[in-house]
Amino acid sequence: MIGNESYVNCTIPELILSLEKRLNPKRFLHTMGVAQTAAFLAVLHGESREKALTAGLLHDIAKPFSDQELMDFCKREQLPISEAEALAPYLLHGKVGARLARDEFGVKDPEILNAIEFHTTGRPDMSLLEILVFIADYIEPSRDRQQKLNKRRQQAVADPGKALVKILKDTVKYLGQTGAPVDPMTQKTLEWYQAKAAKKNRKE
Ligand SMILES: [Fe+2]
Ligand SMILES: [Fe+2]
Repeated sequence: MIGNESYVNCTIPELILSLEKRLNPKRFLHTMGVAQTAAFLAVLHGESREKALTAGLLHDIAKPFSDQELMDFCKREQLPISEAEALAPYLLHGKVGARLARDEFGVKDPEILNAIEFHTTGRPDMSLLEILVFIADYIEPSRDRQQKLNKRRQQAVADPGKALVKILKDTVKYLGQTGAPVDPMTQKTLEWYQAKAAKKNRKE
């Protein structure tokens, strides 16, 4: 356990060992990167580093599930499946991950569960913890394919709100270029944050 609080039903080293068994080496490396980056950003921006570390460690816990397994899990657990999720079931790995974090790892903190659930699409009006985990997922050190990574890493340090909008924009643009459908929640999140930024600019 680090700090004075633990948000899981085991120690952090035990959690990491169990992740190493469940995730393939590349996903495990990515997970370590997200946890470290989220904790680092939490320290910089005044959020709980224990919560950020825990959410980062667990965010892709359901990533090894196949599309069918994700759909079956949601039906069994009576988790809602949107139209976009039915078409692209991998989007469900956040929602399923949050449920696994709660039921298998004893996470009760709603902020951690939300950060896990919404790390793929984001959502309007996210908490700071959700924003930091979302950003960390994009910029962690083992990422190398995303556009303008160094710029986004600098923005994450200087102004996470700005980094969030840029990452959402990059994601929508990238999906548009590849012809992949944009999840309506990602689009909605981008529009919500752009409107928020415009409002702030008008005030200044
Ligand atoms: Fe993910
Ligand atoms: Fe991830």
